[in-house]
Amino acid sequence: MEIDDFYTEHWKQIEDDRFARYEKMFVWSEGQLKLLEPADIQSGHNVLDLGCGPGSLSFGISGLVGETGMVHGVDINERFVSFSQEKYKDRENISFQKIEDHQLPFESDSFDRVVCKNVLEYVPDLTLSLAEVKRVLKPSGKLHVIDSDWGFVIVEPWPKETIVDFFEAAAPAFREPQIGRKLMGEMKKVGFQNVSVVIVPFVDQSGSGLNVLNNMASYIENFETMPSERVRELIDQAEKSVEQGTFLFCLPQFLVTAS
Ligand SMILES: C[S@@+](CC[C@H](N)C(=O)[O-])C[C@H]1O[C@@H](n2cnc3c(N)ncnc32)[C@H](O)[C@@H]1O
Repeated sequence: MEIDDFYTEHWKQIEDDRFARYEKMFVWSEGQLKLLEPADIQSGHNVLDLGCGPGSLSFGISGLVGETGMVHGVDINERFVSFSQEKYKDRENISFQKIEDHQLPFESDSFDRVVCKNVLEYVPDLTLSLAEVKRVLKPSGKLHVIDSDWGFVIVEPWPKETIVDFFEAAAPAFREPQIGRKLMGEMKKVGFQNVSVVIVPFVDQSGSGLNVLNNMASYIENFETMPSERVRELIDQAEKSVEQGTFLFCLPQFLVTAS
């Protein structure tokens, strides 16, 4: 895979071990309702989950829209789509579909809500993707984006400079690694209004943040943007601090909602 378009291509082809890792990372929990709150999803709504991955967020949203509503999960990865179709085949208010890049196979003014969680950092052309979302939203609809910002992370015990170096080494995995801070301006540029930003901290003391760090480490090893002994050393330090009870991982989530 070329480094230049890795950020999008690595989602189209996913090896077995990475797929298994994602299945564990992207799971629905009631705690995620807080991330959806500003979207104000109501019973009966027709909702698009853009970049649905293994379908867990679509599943959570299906509980909010109830039997009279519908959730459409779409993703560029074929395997996520067939996995989700099988896993949620008994739920009549969810459907899954594969899409190509920014194109959405829906008529204009179709959705009450478009939700997009941890996806827009990977899209090749953010303006095109946002314009396409705007097209399929009803005039009364809302776009709700949930995203990280890889320049706004705490990994204790790593010093500030180490955190910067580590996430810069992983940056080719993203089209826009600092998506969190960019979203508001980009949405306004394509004509969204009433854009609000709320930041919800994800704080981990028990070591689940190691999944994120290991995922970044595998990108870095692939790109060879940091010596692999150094990457191993940093992950070892983080693992040791989990054992010692001094690990602290904080990855704020930007919730950006617009009409
Ligand atoms: C980090 S995962 C997040 C999955 C899911 N939204 C969640 O939070 O559980 C990113 C997802 O975005 C999808 N993706 C990447 N580029 C996309 C694009 N241009 N359009 C739609 N989905 C895309 C990937 O295939 C992957 O499923």
